[in-house]
Amino acid sequence: MILVTGGAGFIGSNFVLDWLAQSDEAVINLDLLTYAGNLENLTSLLGDTRHIFVQGNIGDSTLIASLLQQHQPRAIINFAAESHVDRSIHGPADFIQTNIVSTFHLLEAVRTYWDNLHVDAQTTFRFLHVSTDEVYGSLTKNEPAFTEAHPYQPNSPYSASKAASDHLVRAYHHTYGLPVLTTNCSNNYGPHHFPEKLIPLMIVNALAGKPLPVYGDGQQIRDWLYVKDHCSAIRRVLDAGTVGEVYNIGGWNEKPNIEIVRIICTLLDQLHTRADGKSYNEQITYVTDRPGHDRRYAIDASKIARELGWKPIETFDSGIRKTIAWYLANQDWVSNVTSGAYKNWIEQHYKAQP
Ligand code: NAD
Ligand code: DAU
Repeated sequence: MILVTGGAGFIGSNFVLDWLAQSDEAVINLDLLTYAGNLENLTSLLGDTRHIFVQGNIGDSTLIASLLQQHQPRAIINFAAESHVDRSIHGPADFIQTNIVSTFHLLEAVRTYWDNLHVDAQTTFRFLHVSTDEVYGSLTKNEPAFTEAHPYQPNSPYSASKAASDHLVRAYHHTYGLPVLTTNCSNNYGPHHFPEKLIPLMIVNALAGKPLPVYGDGQQIRDWLYVKDHCSAIRRVLDAGTVGEVYNIGGWNEKPNIEIVRIICTLLDQLHTRADGKSYNEQITYVTDRPGHDRRYAIDASKIARELGWKPIETFDSGIRKTIAWYLANQDWVSNVTSGAYKNWIEQHYKAQP
């Protein structure tokens, strides 16, 4: 079996569902269930004995040691993290604690477990660390996309904390021989995406008749990948990646934020016409920029294509249509996650805006 951390969040839940749709190998899913973790993402697995959910912290060494001892997983895929850049600007402490300190405790527990495995199991064991393109910093318009050799230049507390965790993972391979793999992926979108992030926030706000808050001039560029393509890339790296290597994952799909928001509005105009017949584009509002906002990310995903034969299946057009269709069909999921603490975050974060 495998151990997945953070498997109740956006990407982790998509990964667990895809894994069990394609394999009978069981999954232990360890998730703290922070505001971003949601068991509703996994309701289709209720009663499925291949899925063992454990609520707990990757920083809890005793819990990790006992889970590893009891289940003897052949691999760990580490998704668990604090993931939202704006929250890291308002309150970096949780990011340092989870993404650095707790990842360190996880690595220590995994090292002890791996040290005590039989030599055959040691050879096949993998620790796959899921990271981000943001560790590479920001690109100007004409600079080439990030390769795996690009220097680390993280600019936000979030990306700095992820960079630190990447360095720890690397060090555990070089120093202790732990068989690690690291993936650095671009911006994901798709089902279960928490509506604090650009694409789901725009869909949810549009449908609620609220302003669509575009930071600064809206010309920041992100490289978007449908979440199921990220999951297939992780499975491929786990199967065939070379131990100690880093693989960049991306969709070859750079778009300025304002274009993303306009595409969403245009599709919603077709699929869920506004009651007054006007376009959702009318809800777009430019707001104060994010402090330290990275201008452009772009992933050069040629290594994973060349060495492991992976490439994305979805185009942005097909992926965004699936995403919007999912949000339209899952209004209950949206209502459940946009109550309580979510409301407080939105009010606090966007309060200074017109
Ligand atoms: P998310 O915020 O939706 O989910 C994170 C999950 O981790 C939640 O379920 C949360 O409860 C859990 N968690 C947080 N702290 C924990 C802890 N201490 N112990 C156990 N569980 C804990 O995040 P996501 O967008 O699904 O991202 C998953 C991973 O992928 C993160 O490591 C992130 O840095 C990385 N990543 C995300 C993107 C993206 O576009 N979302 C792109 C590249 C990489
Ligand atoms: O690049 C990978 C990263 O992508 C992941 O590592 C992070 O976990 C994930 O959150 C994401 O980070 P971003 O900061 O790029 O994503 P976010 O959805 O927050 O913002 C995308 C872009 O949209 C960014 O340029 C900021 C802008 N934006 C965002 C919000 C929430 C707006 O213009 N308005 C908004 O209200």
